[in-house]
Amino acid sequence: MPERPPRVVLVGFMGSGKTSVGRLLARRLGYGFEDMDRRIERRAGRTIAEIFRDDGEEAFREREREEALALSLLQDRVVAAGGGAFTRPETRSLLQTGALTVWLRCDLERILSRVPADGSRPLAGNRAIMHALLAEREPSYRMADVVVDASAGTPREVADRIVGLIEGRTRKRMSARR
Ligand code: S3P
Repeated sequence: MPERPPRVVLVGFMGSGKTSVGRLLARRLGYGFEDMDRRIERRAGRTIAEIFRDDGEEAFREREREEALALSLLQDRVVAAGGGAFTRPETRSLLQTGALTVWLRCDLERILSRVPADGSRPLAGNRAIMHALLAEREPSYRMADVVVDASAGTPREVADRIVGLIEGRTRKRMSARR
């Protein structure tokens, strides 16, 4: 498939399926898969919960920015961005550079059924604020190039929809040149 984007970046709220869809999508495209949160944990030698607890959220956001910069240099990758990464303008712009960005839009009911309140995601501990946080973040997620409904269907179906979008965009670009 000619001229596919060198990176496909999945953005959206916690629990919208970025990791499970991302792994499948990477396999379909023959790309590597990168999970921002896991990269941050590997580099820090600590869990996300520990980074939030010991250093605070701003320090975590700075780590996200550094990771987005490192990822912007890689080719043939599907990236699952952390749920807050795309809301920070500098990190967002690094994630957007040369990439196709995809918002996995998911309704709150589905999100709440998927995200455990076990402390592994510090901002999911208080379910009462998740609704407000989602509303506050939606304008940022909307800045993604395309939006895919991730509330319905299996991760495989969502990944298939994204492959269809990529193929459609590639075909459109090619026919515009003829
Ligand atoms: C966060 C989402 C998490 C993780 C951190 C903060 C957020 O990532 O980066 O707990 O601000 O929404 P996932 O979206 O992969 O759960």
